[in-house]
Amino acid sequence: TRSAPVIAVDGPAAAGKGTLSKRLAEVLGLPHLDTGLLYRAVARRMLDEAVDPACTSGEAVARALVPEDLKRTDLRTPDVDAAASLVARDQGVRQALVDMQRLFARAQGAVLDGRDIGTVIFPDADVKLYITASARTRAVRRYMQNGGSETAPDREAHISEIEQALIARDHADSTRASAPLRMADDAVKIETDALDAAEVLAEALRITKAALERQKA
Ligand code: CDP
Ligand code: CDP
Repeated sequence: TRSAPVIAVDGPAAAGKGTLSKRLAEVLGLPHLDTGLLYRAVARRMLDEAVDPACTSGEAVARALVPEDLKRTDLRTPDVDAAASLVARDQGVRQALVDMQRLFARAQGAVLDGRDIGTVIFPDADVKLYITASARTRAVRRYMQNGGSETAPDREAHISEIEQALIARDHADSTRASAPLRMADDAVKIETDALDAAEVLAEALRITKAALERQKA
């Protein structure tokens, strides 16, 4: 039994999970963990050491992660996107990161965002949200997030390149054997194509408060 709530936020790449989870955690006074950063940090170290993440297990790297690894500023590059998804297939890596994620929430509860929070890390989470949008919407979001311009002549080409990479990563994440991306049966889905970040937050808060009230009753 836990005294503080655990809120699971899952969904495909660039759906707005991190943005939502950070704000949700602030409003509810809970710690927030972006679990994608764990996989990114393992991938980053392997790229730095020129270890091929497709061939060699990153389990030892995962076990040796320190908080500073998660604060690096070079974790969101396209090479790390792809390498993170590769290391995330590795059962040894995933196992090494499980306890870290569970311990994070133990003392004060938490909002955690990722791919398998509601299915594997916290199957008994108090609230499970599944945040999604079309690949096109998500590609535009990532393009803008990375400083893309509304009027650049190569805008379309750039967005479709991002979209193809997102689709490939979602496919890999959804079809892998261990802890694939999947909506938990008891998650609430938020389709965000037509919603801005503030509207997604409002909807998530409404769902969360209703779920926590129901539990108290
Ligand atoms: O921010 P974005 O949605 O693009 O990616 P992320 O959440 O930082 O996750 C990067 C990669 O880590 C994903 O493509 C997954 O392969 C992996 N991941 C995972 O397997 N399980 C999680 N709980 C979180 C991330
Ligand atoms: O964590 P994840 O990869 O799912 O997405 P993110 O990095 O939180 O969000 C990607 C971008 O979409 C950010 O620049 C947000 O400001 C923007 N955005 C959003 O998060 N939610 C919306 N409903 C609309 C845009």
